[in-house]
Amino acid sequence: MKFNGSDSYVATQDLMLAVNAAITLKRPLLVKGEPGTGKTMLAEEVARAIGMPLLQWHIKSTTKAQQGLYEYDAVSRLRDSQLADVSGSEKVKDIRNYIVRGTLWQAFTAEQPVALLIDEIDKADIEFPNDLLRELDRMEFYVYETRELIKARHRPVVFITSNNEKELPDAFLRRCFFHYIKFPDADTMKRIVDVHFPSLKKELLGAALKTFYDVRNLPGLKKKPSTSELLDWLKLLVAEDIPLEALHSKDEKVSVPPLVGALLKNEQDVTLFEKLVFMQRHNR
Ligand SMILES: Nc1ncnc2c1ncn2[C@@H]1O[C@H](COP(=O)(O)OP(=O)(O)O)[C@@H](O)[C@H]1O
Ligand SMILES: [Mg+2]
Repeated sequence: MKFNGSDSYVATQDLMLAVNAAITLKRPLLVKGEPGTGKTMLAEEVARAIGMPLLQWHIKSTTKAQQGLYEYDAVSRLRDSQLADVSGSEKVKDIRNYIVRGTLWQAFTAEQPVALLIDEIDKADIEFPNDLLRELDRMEFYVYETRELIKARHRPVVFITSNNEKELPDAFLRRCFFHYIKFPDADTMKRIVDVHFPSLKKELLGAALKTFYDVRNLPGLKKKPSTSELLDWLKLLVAEDIPLEALHSKDEKVSVPPLVGALLKNEQDVTLFEKLVFMQRHNR
């Protein structure tokens, strides 16, 4: 089981090392990075490359750790008990019929080894990671309603992603292997774009990347555009057949790029950018 990148995903050397280290250590790989830097896609690609199905658990602000294990559906049971005929009442008697299995349960009891993605763990409340410590460590949990212990048949390969909105507790961090996906440099970005748009013209790519990094490096941006926004923008440039000249200003000065709405997502950032362009025009 070794991950060496794939033809649809560009992985840097240190990212591949981190993935393989986590697999060797049998610890969850905690991947942090700006939104849109390929964290979710990493889990999908690694699972594909090592030939395991990927079970995904997308975390929201309201998600509780228990939901990943199981939930007891008391409402359905009550309803069934009120409507039940003779055959139905057998179902109602057995509480196991109302235990809804969560993603961790499914991962633990899968026939074959699986990969498990806990996506955007920083969305949940602060207790969430701590509540999963034991389950991820020991790979087992207890179902009180049925008095059974659910133990992993195979230790799943676990990916946990975070957009860094919240700090994670120390006890949780201690159990993970950590990797921060740095924002891709221009060369890596070229390779990423190449994966998505293999036939993009070199000049257009060069000009678009220059504009993109100019926008990104603007000091004071609220939300810097990321890889996925660059890809969206390129798709539009190609679809709208935007000429190269629209990206290149002859005097090497920054200009407001066409379809800038794909890159900048709030009005303050657009205003900031326009101001900069305006100042450049008038200063020099
Ligand atoms: N290293 C990469 N190689 C190929 N495509 C990438 C890479 N990083 C990001 N992308 C593109 O950016 C999109 C967003 O990635 P995603 O995994 O959703 O980001 P995140 O989960 O970090 O927010 C992906 O669908 C993919 O098209
Ligand atoms: Mg994601």
